[in-house]
Amino acid sequence: VCWLSPEQTAGKQKPYMYTQGQAVLNRSFFPCFDTPSVKFTYSATVKVPEGFMAVMSATSWEKQKDNTFVFKMSQPIPSYLVALVVGDIVSADVGPRSRVWAEPCLIEAAKKEYDGVIEEFLTVGEKLFGPYVWGRYDILFMPPSFPFGGMENPCLTFVTPCLLAGDRSLVDVIIHEISHSWFGNLVTNATWGEFWLNEGFTMYAQRRISTEVYGAAYTCLEAATGRALLRQHMDATGEDHPLNKLRVVIEPGINPDDTYNETPYEKGYCFVSYLAHLVGNQSKFDAFLQAYVNQFKFQSITADDTLGFFLEYFPELKEKGVDSIPGFEFNRWLNTPGWPPYLPDLSPGQQLMKPADALAELWAADSLNMEAVEAVDITGWRTYQLVYFLDQILQKSPLPEGNVERLSKMYPKISKAQNAELRLRWCQIILKNNLEAEFSKVKEFLHSQGKQKYTLPLYRSMWGGSEATRALAMETFSATAPQLHVNVQNYVKKIL
Ligand code: BES
Ligand code: ZN
Repeated sequence: VCWLSPEQTAGKQKPYMYTQGQAVLNRSFFPCFDTPSVKFTYSATVKVPEGFMAVMSATSWEKQKDNTFVFKMSQPIPSYLVALVVGDIVSADVGPRSRVWAEPCLIEAAKKEYDGVIEEFLTVGEKLFGPYVWGRYDILFMPPSFPFGGMENPCLTFVTPCLLAGDRSLVDVIIHEISHSWFGNLVTNATWGEFWLNEGFTMYAQRRISTEVYGAAYTCLEAATGRALLRQHMDATGEDHPLNKLRVVIEPGINPDDTYNETPYEKGYCFVSYLAHLVGNQSKFDAFLQAYVNQFKFQSITADDTLGFFLEYFPELKEKGVDSIPGFEFNRWLNTPGWPPYLPDLSPGQQLMKPADALAELWAADSLNMEAVEAVDITGWRTYQLVYFLDQILQKSPLPEGNVERLSKMYPKISKAQNAELRLRWCQIILKNNLEAEFSKVKEFLHSQGKQKYTLPLYRSMWGGSEATRALAMETFSATAPQLHVNVQNYVKKIL
Protein backbone atom coordinates (compact mmCIF):
# COMPACT_ATOMS: atom_id res chain seq x y z
CA VAL A 1 0.00 0.00 0.00
CA CYS A 2 1.59 3.24 -1.16
CA TRP A 3 0.99 6.44 0.79
CA LEU A 4 1.90 9.60 -1.12
CA SER A 5 2.30 13.07 0.34
CA PRO A 6 0.70 16.00 -1.55
CA GLU A 7 4.09 16.86 -3.11
CA GLN A 8 4.19 13.39 -4.68
CA THR A 9 0.99 13.96 -6.66
CA ALA A 10 0.49 15.88 -9.90
CA GLY A 11 -1.68 18.54 -8.23
CA LYS A 12 0.45 18.78 -5.06
CA GLN A 13 -2.65 19.66 -2.96
CA LYS A 14 -3.86 16.49 -1.26
CA PRO A 15 -2.36 13.15 -0.21
CA TYR A 16 -3.04 10.01 -2.23
CA MET A 17 -2.96 6.29 -1.55
CA TYR A 18 -2.93 3.38 -3.95
CA THR A 19 -2.37 -0.35 -3.88
CA GLN A 20 -0.33 -2.46 -6.31
CA GLY A 21 -1.04 -6.16 -5.90
CA GLN A 22 0.96 -7.92 -8.61
CA ALA A 23 2.83 -10.09 -8.00
CA VAL A 24 2.68 -10.84 -4.23
CA LEU A 25 2.11 -7.46 -2.55
CA ASN A 26 -1.57 -7.70 -1.66
CA ARG A 27 -0.86 -9.82 1.43
CA SER A 28 0.12 -6.50 3.02
CA PHE A 29 -3.28 -5.02 2.06
CA PHE A 30 -5.76 -7.69 3.26
CA PRO A 31 -5.57 -11.30 4.48
CA CYS A 32 -5.68 -13.57 1.44
CA PHE A 33 -4.45 -16.66 -0.34
CA ASP A 34 -1.93 -14.55 -2.19
CA THR A 35 -1.42 -16.85 -5.16
CA PRO A 36 -2.83 -16.55 -8.68
CA SER A 37 -4.11 -20.13 -8.40
CA VAL A 38 -6.99 -19.10 -6.09
CA LYS A 39 -9.91 -16.95 -7.32
CA PHE A 40 -12.67 -15.27 -5.31
CA THR A 41 -15.30 -12.56 -5.46
CA TYR A 42 -15.10 -9.72 -2.97
CA SER A 43 -16.92 -6.75 -1.53
CA ALA A 44 -15.44 -3.80 0.32
CA THR A 45 -16.68 -0.85 2.33
CA VAL A 46 -14.29 2.09 2.26
CA LYS A 47 -14.69 5.23 4.35
CA VAL A 48 -12.58 8.20 3.29
CA PRO A 49 -12.05 11.75 4.61
CA GLU A 50 -14.16 14.60 3.24
CA GLY A 51 -12.98 15.74 -0.20
CA PHE A 52 -11.60 12.35 -1.28
CA MET A 53 -12.80 9.76 -3.75
CA ALA A 54 -12.31 5.99 -3.53
CA VAL A 55 -12.23 3.66 -6.53
CA MET A 56 -11.62 -0.10 -6.77
CA SER A 57 -11.29 -2.88 -9.31
CA ALA A 58 -14.94 -3.81 -8.89
CA THR A 59 -17.97 -4.50 -11.11
CA SER A 60 -20.31 -2.31 -9.06
CA TRP A 61 -19.92 0.53 -6.65
CA GLU A 62 -22.06 3.15 -4.94
CA LYS A 63 -21.46 6.14 -2.72
CA GLN A 64 -23.34 6.12 0.58
CA LYS A 65 -23.56 8.92 3.12
CA ASP A 66 -20.56 9.76 5.36
CA ASN A 67 -18.03 9.51 2.51
CA THR A 68 -18.50 5.76 2.46
CA PHE A 69 -18.12 3.75 -0.74
CA VAL A 70 -19.34 0.18 -1.21
CA PHE A 71 -17.72 -1.98 -3.89
CA LYS A 72 -18.52 -5.45 -5.23
CA MET A 73 -16.58 -7.62 -7.61
CA SER A 74 -19.07 -10.20 -8.82
CA GLN A 75 -16.62 -12.28 -10.92
CA PRO A 76 -13.96 -14.48 -9.32
CA ILE A 77 -10.47 -12.96 -9.56
CA PRO A 78 -7.05 -13.77 -8.08
CA SER A 79 -5.75 -11.70 -5.14
CA TYR A 80 -3.29 -9.71 -7.25
CA LEU A 81 -6.12 -8.02 -9.15
CA VAL A 82 -7.77 -6.39 -6.12
CA ALA A 83 -6.88 -2.68 -6.18
CA LEU A 84 -7.86 0.51 -4.38
CA VAL A 85 -7.10 4.20 -4.87
CA VAL A 86 -8.09 7.04 -2.58
CA GLY A 87 -7.28 10.57 -3.64
CA ASP A 88 -8.45 13.82 -5.12
CA ILE A 89 -9.62 12.28 -8.39
CA VAL A 90 -12.41 13.09 -10.83
CA SER A 91 -13.73 11.36 -13.94
CA ALA A 92 -14.86 12.06 -17.48
CA ASP A 93 -16.68 9.80 -19.95
CA VAL A 94 -14.70 8.67 -23.00
CA GLY A 95 -17.04 5.96 -24.33
CA PRO A 96 -20.27 4.06 -23.67
CA ARG A 97 -18.65 1.83 -21.03
CA SER A 98 -15.47 3.79 -20.32
CA ARG A 99 -14.33 6.81 -18.42
CA VAL A 100 -10.97 8.24 -17.45
CA TRP A 101 -10.08 9.03 -13.83
CA ALA A 102 -7.34 11.50 -12.89
CA GLU A 103 -6.41 14.31 -10.56
CA PRO A 104 -8.36 17.44 -11.54
CA CYS A 105 -5.29 19.07 -13.15
CA LEU A 106 -4.90 16.13 -15.56
CA ILE A 107 -8.49 15.27 -16.40
CA GLU A 108 -8.80 17.46 -19.51
CA ALA A 109 -5.62 16.03 -21.02
CA ALA A 110 -6.77 12.50 -20.14
CA LYS A 111 -10.15 12.96 -21.77
CA LYS A 112 -8.64 14.48 -24.88
CA GLU A 113 -6.09 11.69 -25.26
CA TYR A 114 -8.58 8.82 -25.01
CA ASP A 115 -11.99 10.21 -26.01
CA GLY A 116 -13.65 7.82 -28.44
CA VAL A 117 -10.78 5.32 -28.88
CA ILE A 118 -11.30 2.83 -26.04
CA GLU A 119 -14.59 1.46 -27.36
CA GLU A 120 -13.00 0.52 -30.67
CA PHE A 121 -10.31 -1.55 -28.91
CA LEU A 122 -12.95 -3.27 -26.76
CA THR A 123 -15.12 -4.04 -29.78
CA VAL A 124 -12.23 -5.50 -31.75
CA GLY A 125 -11.14 -7.49 -28.67
CA GLU A 126 -14.65 -8.93 -28.32
CA LYS A 127 -14.78 -9.84 -31.99
CA LEU A 128 -11.46 -11.68 -31.69
CA PHE A 129 -11.54 -13.23 -28.21
CA GLY A 130 -15.21 -13.34 -27.14
CA PRO A 131 -17.39 -11.36 -24.72
CA TYR A 132 -15.90 -8.68 -22.47
CA VAL A 133 -17.21 -9.91 -19.11
CA TRP A 134 -16.12 -7.11 -16.78
CA GLY A 135 -18.86 -4.54 -17.47
CA ARG A 136 -16.97 -1.25 -17.51
CA TYR A 137 -13.45 -0.55 -18.74
CA ASP A 138 -12.18 2.59 -17.01
CA ILE A 139 -8.64 4.02 -16.94
CA LEU A 140 -7.07 5.69 -13.94
CA PHE A 141 -4.10 8.01 -14.47
CA MET A 142 -1.78 7.52 -11.51
CA PRO A 143 0.67 9.90 -9.86
CA PRO A 144 4.07 10.17 -11.63
CA SER A 145 5.79 7.64 -9.34
CA PHE A 146 3.53 4.75 -10.42
CA PRO A 147 6.09 2.02 -11.24
CA PHE A 148 4.42 0.52 -14.34
CA GLY A 149 3.24 1.62 -17.75
CA GLY A 150 -0.06 -0.05 -16.98
CA MET A 151 -1.64 -2.48 -14.52
CA GLU A 152 -4.66 -4.45 -15.68
CA ASN A 153 -6.83 -4.18 -12.54
CA PRO A 154 -10.22 -5.46 -13.73
CA CYS A 155 -12.79 -2.77 -14.65
CA LEU A 156 -10.20 -0.11 -13.84
CA THR A 157 -6.76 -0.20 -15.46
CA PHE A 158 -4.10 1.87 -13.68
CA VAL A 159 -1.67 3.69 -16.00
CA THR A 160 1.32 6.00 -15.77
CA PRO A 161 0.61 9.66 -16.55
CA CYS A 162 3.46 9.39 -19.11
CA LEU A 163 0.76 8.05 -21.46
CA LEU A 164 -0.56 11.60 -21.76
CA ALA A 165 1.75 12.26 -24.69
CA GLY A 166 -0.74 14.55 -26.43
CA ASP A 167 -0.83 12.55 -29.65
CA ARG A 168 -2.16 9.08 -28.69
CA SER A 169 1.26 7.67 -29.61
CA LEU A 170 1.52 5.42 -26.52
CA VAL A 171 -1.91 3.86 -26.90
CA ASP A 172 -0.42 0.37 -27.32
CA VAL A 173 -0.10 0.23 -23.52
CA ILE A 174 -3.89 0.61 -23.24
CA ILE A 175 -4.43 -2.07 -25.90
CA HIS A 176 -2.10 -4.30 -23.89
CA GLU A 177 -4.03 -3.81 -20.65
CA ILE A 178 -7.36 -4.29 -22.45
CA SER A 179 -5.99 -7.59 -23.83
CA HIS A 180 -5.44 -8.79 -20.26
CA SER A 181 -9.26 -8.72 -19.92
CA TRP A 182 -9.13 -12.13 -21.64
CA PHE A 183 -5.54 -13.29 -21.10
CA GLY A 184 -4.54 -12.94 -17.45
CA ASN A 185 -7.76 -11.72 -15.89
CA LEU A 186 -10.09 -14.43 -17.28
CA VAL A 187 -7.53 -17.17 -17.99
CA THR A 188 -4.84 -16.80 -15.35
CA ASN A 189 -1.39 -18.32 -14.85
CA ALA A 190 -1.66 -20.72 -11.91
CA THR A 191 1.85 -19.86 -10.70
CA TRP A 192 4.20 -16.90 -11.26
CA GLY A 193 6.67 -19.35 -12.78
CA GLU A 194 4.36 -19.44 -15.83
CA PHE A 195 3.88 -15.68 -16.09
CA TRP A 196 4.38 -15.99 -19.87
CA LEU A 197 0.83 -17.40 -20.08
CA ASN A 198 -0.40 -13.98 -18.94
CA GLU A 199 2.05 -11.74 -20.75
CA GLY A 200 2.98 -13.73 -23.87
CA PHE A 201 -0.67 -14.31 -24.82
CA THR A 202 -1.43 -10.69 -23.96
CA MET A 203 1.36 -9.43 -26.23
CA TYR A 204 -0.05 -11.61 -28.99
CA ALA A 205 -3.60 -10.35 -28.36
CA GLN A 206 -2.38 -6.73 -28.18
CA ARG A 207 -0.72 -7.06 -31.59
CA ARG A 208 -3.80 -8.78 -33.08
CA ILE A 209 -5.97 -5.84 -31.97
CA SER A 210 -3.33 -3.37 -33.13
CA THR A 211 -3.14 -5.07 -36.55
CA GLU A 212 -6.91 -4.81 -36.96
CA VAL A 213 -7.02 -1.14 -35.92
CA TYR A 214 -3.71 0.28 -37.17
CA GLY A 215 -2.55 -2.26 -39.76
CA ALA A 216 0.37 -4.68 -40.06
CA ALA A 217 3.09 -2.14 -40.87
CA TYR A 218 2.68 -0.13 -37.68
CA THR A 219 2.18 -3.25 -35.53
CA CYS A 220 5.30 -4.95 -36.88
CA LEU A 221 7.29 -1.79 -36.19
CA GLU A 222 6.07 -1.83 -32.56
CA ALA A 223 6.87 -5.56 -32.37
CA ALA A 224 10.39 -4.87 -33.69
CA THR A 225 11.02 -2.48 -30.79
CA GLY A 226 9.84 -5.27 -28.48
CA ARG A 227 12.26 -7.69 -30.11
CA ALA A 228 15.07 -5.15 -29.60
CA LEU A 229 14.25 -5.07 -25.88
CA LEU A 230 14.49 -8.87 -25.72
CA ARG A 231 17.84 -8.73 -27.57
CA GLN A 232 19.16 -6.11 -25.11
CA HIS A 233 17.96 -8.16 -22.15
CA MET A 234 19.54 -11.41 -23.37
CA ASP A 235 22.78 -9.63 -24.25
CA ALA A 236 22.91 -8.19 -20.75
CA THR A 237 22.18 -11.44 -18.91
CA GLY A 238 23.64 -13.98 -21.33
CA GLU A 239 21.27 -16.17 -23.35
CA ASP A 240 21.72 -19.14 -21.03
CA HIS A 241 20.45 -17.35 -17.95
CA PRO A 242 17.83 -19.53 -16.20
CA LEU A 243 15.33 -16.64 -16.30
CA ASN A 244 15.48 -16.71 -20.10
CA LYS A 245 13.08 -19.63 -20.32
CA LEU A 246 9.33 -19.41 -20.45
CA ARG A 247 8.79 -21.73 -17.48
CA VAL A 248 10.80 -20.36 -14.58
CA VAL A 249 11.58 -22.21 -11.37
CA ILE A 250 10.79 -19.88 -8.46
CA GLU A 251 12.28 -21.38 -5.32
CA PRO A 252 10.50 -20.87 -1.97
CA GLY A 253 11.47 -17.51 -0.50
CA ILE A 254 12.15 -15.90 -3.89
CA ASN A 255 10.01 -12.88 -4.69
CA PRO A 256 8.45 -13.46 -8.14
CA ASP A 257 8.93 -9.75 -8.90
CA ASP A 258 12.67 -10.40 -8.81
CA THR A 259 12.31 -12.71 -11.82
CA TYR A 260 10.65 -10.00 -13.96
CA ASN A 261 12.20 -9.51 -17.41
CA GLU A 262 11.38 -9.31 -21.13
CA THR A 263 11.35 -13.09 -21.73
CA PRO A 264 7.75 -13.87 -20.74
CA TYR A 265 6.62 -10.93 -22.90
CA GLU A 266 8.61 -11.21 -26.09
CA LYS A 267 9.72 -14.87 -26.13
CA GLY A 268 6.18 -15.66 -25.01
CA TYR A 269 4.91 -13.63 -27.96
CA CYS A 270 7.19 -15.63 -30.27
CA PHE A 271 5.89 -18.96 -28.92
CA VAL A 272 2.25 -17.96 -29.39
CA SER A 273 3.16 -16.71 -32.88
CA TYR A 274 4.81 -20.08 -33.50
CA LEU A 275 1.58 -21.87 -32.52
CA ALA A 276 -0.28 -19.62 -34.98
CA HIS A 277 2.35 -20.42 -37.61
CA LEU A 278 1.78 -24.17 -37.05
CA VAL A 279 -1.93 -23.64 -37.64
CA GLY A 280 -1.10 -21.62 -40.74
CA ASN A 281 -4.36 -19.69 -40.91
CA GLN A 282 -5.09 -16.54 -38.92
CA SER A 283 -8.83 -16.95 -38.59
CA LYS A 284 -8.48 -20.57 -37.47
CA PHE A 285 -5.99 -19.47 -34.84
CA ASP A 286 -8.24 -16.59 -33.74
CA ALA A 287 -11.05 -19.12 -33.32
CA PHE A 288 -8.74 -21.28 -31.22
CA LEU A 289 -7.91 -18.33 -28.94
CA GLN A 290 -11.61 -17.68 -28.45
CA ALA A 291 -12.25 -21.36 -27.65
CA TYR A 292 -9.27 -21.33 -25.26
CA VAL A 293 -10.66 -18.37 -23.32
CA ASN A 294 -14.08 -19.99 -23.21
CA GLN A 295 -12.61 -23.30 -22.04
CA PHE A 296 -10.53 -21.86 -19.18
CA LYS A 297 -12.33 -18.62 -18.20
CA PHE A 298 -12.34 -17.90 -14.45
CA GLN A 299 -9.72 -20.61 -13.97
CA SER A 300 -6.00 -20.66 -13.24
CA ILE A 301 -4.00 -22.93 -15.48
CA THR A 302 -0.51 -24.13 -16.43
CA ALA A 303 1.21 -24.28 -19.82
CA ASP A 304 0.43 -28.01 -19.93
CA ASP A 305 -3.29 -27.13 -19.90
CA THR A 306 -2.77 -24.60 -22.69
CA LEU A 307 -0.70 -26.85 -24.93
CA GLY A 308 -2.85 -29.92 -24.20
CA PHE A 309 -5.91 -27.94 -25.28
CA PHE A 310 -4.10 -26.70 -28.40
CA LEU A 311 -3.31 -30.25 -29.51
CA GLU A 312 -6.84 -31.40 -28.71
CA TYR A 313 -8.32 -28.50 -30.69
CA PHE A 314 -6.13 -29.30 -33.71
CA PRO A 315 -6.04 -33.15 -33.78
CA GLU A 316 -4.35 -33.15 -37.21
CA LEU A 317 -1.41 -31.23 -35.68
CA LYS A 318 -1.29 -33.62 -32.75
CA GLU A 319 -1.22 -36.50 -35.21
CA LYS A 320 1.72 -34.87 -37.00
CA GLY A 321 3.59 -34.62 -33.71
CA VAL A 322 4.10 -30.82 -33.88
CA ASP A 323 5.01 -30.81 -30.20
CA SER A 324 8.25 -32.66 -30.94
CA ILE A 325 9.67 -31.19 -34.18
CA PRO A 326 13.46 -31.18 -33.61
CA GLY A 327 14.62 -27.74 -32.49
CA PHE A 328 11.05 -26.54 -31.88
CA GLU A 329 9.87 -29.02 -29.23
CA PHE A 330 7.24 -27.53 -26.94
CA ASN A 331 9.44 -28.71 -24.06
CA ARG A 332 12.37 -26.79 -25.47
CA TRP A 333 10.27 -23.64 -25.78
CA LEU A 334 9.25 -23.96 -22.14
CA ASN A 335 12.38 -25.24 -20.45
CA THR A 336 15.43 -24.15 -22.44
CA PRO A 337 16.80 -20.65 -21.94
CA GLY A 338 17.85 -18.57 -24.91
CA TRP A 339 16.79 -16.80 -28.06
CA PRO A 340 13.41 -17.96 -29.47
CA PRO A 341 13.82 -20.76 -32.05
CA TYR A 342 11.09 -19.13 -34.17
CA LEU A 343 10.61 -15.42 -34.88
CA PRO A 344 7.42 -14.14 -36.49
CA ASP A 345 7.88 -12.32 -39.78
CA LEU A 346 7.95 -8.56 -39.15
CA SER A 347 8.65 -7.62 -42.77
CA PRO A 348 5.39 -5.66 -43.17
CA GLY A 349 7.09 -3.13 -40.87
CA GLN A 350 10.09 -2.77 -43.22
CA GLN A 351 8.61 0.23 -45.03
CA LEU A 352 8.73 2.12 -41.72
CA MET A 353 11.99 0.61 -40.40
CA LYS A 354 14.15 0.95 -43.54
CA PRO A 355 14.38 4.76 -43.55
CA ALA A 356 15.22 4.68 -39.84
CA ASP A 357 17.93 2.02 -40.38
CA ALA A 358 19.43 4.04 -43.21
CA LEU A 359 19.47 7.28 -41.23
CA ALA A 360 21.10 5.56 -38.24
CA GLU A 361 23.82 4.25 -40.58
CA LEU A 362 24.53 7.79 -41.75
CA TRP A 363 24.87 9.09 -38.20
CA ALA A 364 27.22 6.27 -37.20
CA ALA A 365 29.72 7.10 -39.97
CA ASP A 366 33.15 8.48 -39.07
CA SER A 367 32.85 11.40 -41.42
CA LEU A 368 29.29 12.65 -41.48
CA ASN A 369 27.65 12.94 -44.87
CA MET A 370 25.51 15.95 -43.93
CA GLU A 371 24.05 16.26 -47.39
CA ALA A 372 22.60 12.78 -47.14
CA VAL A 373 21.47 13.40 -43.55
CA GLU A 374 19.71 16.62 -44.45
CA ALA A 375 17.95 14.93 -47.33
CA VAL A 376 16.00 12.80 -44.82
CA ASP A 377 12.95 14.56 -43.41
CA ILE A 378 11.89 13.07 -40.09
CA THR A 379 9.15 15.60 -39.32
CA GLY A 380 6.45 13.19 -40.46
CA TRP A 381 7.81 10.15 -38.62
CA ARG A 382 5.60 8.30 -36.11
CA THR A 383 6.81 8.07 -32.51
CA TYR A 384 7.67 4.37 -32.87
CA GLN A 385 9.75 5.12 -35.97
CA LEU A 386 11.77 7.57 -33.91
CA VAL A 387 11.99 5.02 -31.08
CA TYR A 388 13.26 2.44 -33.54
CA PHE A 389 15.78 4.94 -34.97
CA LEU A 390 17.05 5.78 -31.48
CA ASP A 391 17.38 2.08 -30.61
CA GLN A 392 19.64 1.72 -33.66
CA ILE A 393 21.68 4.77 -32.62
CA LEU A 394 21.99 3.38 -29.10
CA GLN A 395 23.17 0.04 -30.45
CA LYS A 396 25.85 1.81 -32.50
CA SER A 397 26.90 4.09 -29.61
CA PRO A 398 29.28 5.54 -28.68
CA LEU A 399 29.15 7.35 -32.03
CA PRO A 400 32.26 9.03 -33.47
CA GLU A 401 33.28 12.18 -31.60
CA GLY A 402 30.87 15.08 -32.13
CA ASN A 403 28.09 13.19 -33.93
CA VAL A 404 25.66 13.03 -31.03
CA GLU A 405 25.99 16.78 -30.38
CA ARG A 406 25.15 17.45 -33.99
CA LEU A 407 22.28 14.98 -33.90
CA SER A 408 20.93 16.71 -30.81
CA LYS A 409 21.00 20.12 -32.54
CA MET A 410 19.58 18.80 -35.76
CA TYR A 411 16.53 17.08 -34.21
CA PRO A 412 14.97 19.07 -31.35
CA LYS A 413 11.95 16.80 -31.95
CA ILE A 414 14.12 14.10 -30.35
CA SER A 415 16.46 15.89 -27.96
CA LYS A 416 13.69 18.09 -26.54
CA ALA A 417 10.93 15.46 -26.73
CA GLN A 418 8.29 15.28 -24.02
CA ASN A 419 7.28 11.74 -24.99
CA ALA A 420 8.57 9.33 -22.31
CA GLU A 421 9.62 6.55 -24.71
CA LEU A 422 11.72 9.05 -26.66
CA ARG A 423 13.10 10.63 -23.49
CA LEU A 424 14.20 7.22 -22.19
CA ARG A 425 16.13 6.45 -25.39
CA TRP A 426 17.62 9.92 -25.60
CA CYS A 427 18.84 9.68 -22.01
CA GLN A 428 20.36 6.26 -22.72
CA ILE A 429 22.18 7.76 -25.73
CA ILE A 430 23.41 10.72 -23.66
CA LEU A 431 24.86 8.32 -21.10
CA LYS A 432 26.39 5.85 -23.53
CA ASN A 433 28.09 8.73 -25.37
CA ASN A 434 29.06 10.46 -22.13
CA LEU A 435 27.48 13.71 -23.34
CA GLU A 436 28.02 15.73 -20.17
CA ALA A 437 26.35 18.84 -21.58
CA GLU A 438 23.00 17.00 -21.48
CA PHE A 439 23.31 15.05 -18.20
CA SER A 440 20.71 17.37 -16.69
CA LYS A 441 18.13 15.77 -18.99
CA VAL A 442 18.68 12.38 -17.34
CA LYS A 443 18.18 13.96 -13.96
CA GLU A 444 15.03 15.81 -15.06
CA PHE A 445 13.53 12.66 -16.55
CA LEU A 446 14.17 10.63 -13.40
CA HIS A 447 12.68 13.40 -11.29
CA SER A 448 9.57 13.60 -13.46
CA GLN A 449 8.41 9.94 -13.20
CA GLY A 450 9.23 6.65 -11.45
CA LYS A 451 8.38 3.90 -13.92
CA GLN A 452 10.54 0.84 -13.23
CA LYS A 453 11.25 0.09 -16.90
CA TYR A 454 12.60 3.64 -17.36
CA THR A 455 14.34 4.01 -14.02
CA LEU A 456 16.38 0.80 -13.80
CA PRO A 457 18.00 0.90 -17.27
CA LEU A 458 19.12 4.48 -16.66
CA TYR A 459 20.67 3.68 -13.27
CA ARG A 460 22.37 0.60 -14.75
CA SER A 461 23.77 2.72 -17.52
CA MET A 462 24.92 5.48 -15.13
CA TRP A 463 26.60 2.96 -12.85
CA GLY A 464 28.32 1.28 -15.80
CA GLY A 465 29.62 4.62 -17.10
CA SER A 466 32.16 7.20 -15.93
CA GLU A 467 32.93 8.73 -12.57
CA ALA A 468 30.67 11.61 -13.57
CA THR A 469 27.68 9.40 -14.41
CA ARG A 470 28.12 7.50 -11.13
CA ALA A 471 28.02 10.78 -9.25
CA LEU A 472 24.93 11.74 -11.21
CA ALA A 473 23.31 8.45 -10.18
CA MET A 474 24.02 8.96 -6.49
CA GLU A 475 22.84 12.56 -6.54
CA THR A 476 19.64 11.74 -8.44
CA PHE A 477 18.79 8.76 -6.27
CA SER A 478 19.19 10.61 -2.99
CA ALA A 479 16.82 13.29 -4.26
CA THR A 480 14.18 10.99 -5.77
CA ALA A 481 14.26 7.85 -3.57
CA PRO A 482 11.39 8.89 -1.29
CA GLN A 483 9.04 9.29 -4.25
CA LEU A 484 9.82 5.90 -5.81
CA HIS A 485 7.79 2.74 -5.23
CA VAL A 486 9.53 0.66 -2.55
CA ASN A 487 10.26 -2.17 -5.02
CA VAL A 488 11.90 0.25 -7.43
CA GLN A 489 13.86 1.85 -4.57
CA ASN A 490 15.23 -1.55 -3.62
CA TYR A 491 16.19 -2.45 -7.18
CA VAL A 492 18.04 0.85 -7.61
CA LYS A 493 19.85 0.28 -4.30
CA LYS A 494 21.02 -3.07 -5.65
CA ILE A 495 22.39 -1.44 -8.79
CA LEU A 496 24.28 1.24 -6.83
N1 BES B 1 0.73 -6.79 -15.48
C1 BES B 1 1.75 -5.99 -16.06
C2 BES B 1 2.48 -5.13 -15.03
C3 BES B 1 3.15 -5.90 -13.92
C4 BES B 1 3.90 -7.04 -14.19
C5 BES B 1 3.06 -5.47 -12.62
C6 BES B 1 4.51 -7.74 -13.14
C7 BES B 1 3.68 -6.16 -11.58
C8 BES B 1 4.40 -7.31 -11.85
C9 BES B 1 1.20 -5.09 -17.16
O1 BES B 1 0.18 -5.67 -17.90
C10 BES B 1 2.30 -4.80 -18.12
O2 BES B 1 2.83 -5.72 -18.68
N2 BES B 1 2.61 -3.53 -18.33
C11 BES B 1 3.61 -3.11 -19.29
C12 BES B 1 2.92 -2.60 -20.55
C13 BES B 1 3.61 -2.89 -21.84
C14 BES B 1 4.08 -4.30 -22.02
C15 BES B 1 2.75 -2.45 -23.01
C16 BES B 1 4.44 -2.01 -18.63
O3 BES B 1 4.09 -1.56 -17.55
O4 BES B 1 5.44 -1.63 -19.20
ZN1 ZN C 1 0.89 -7.19 -19.21
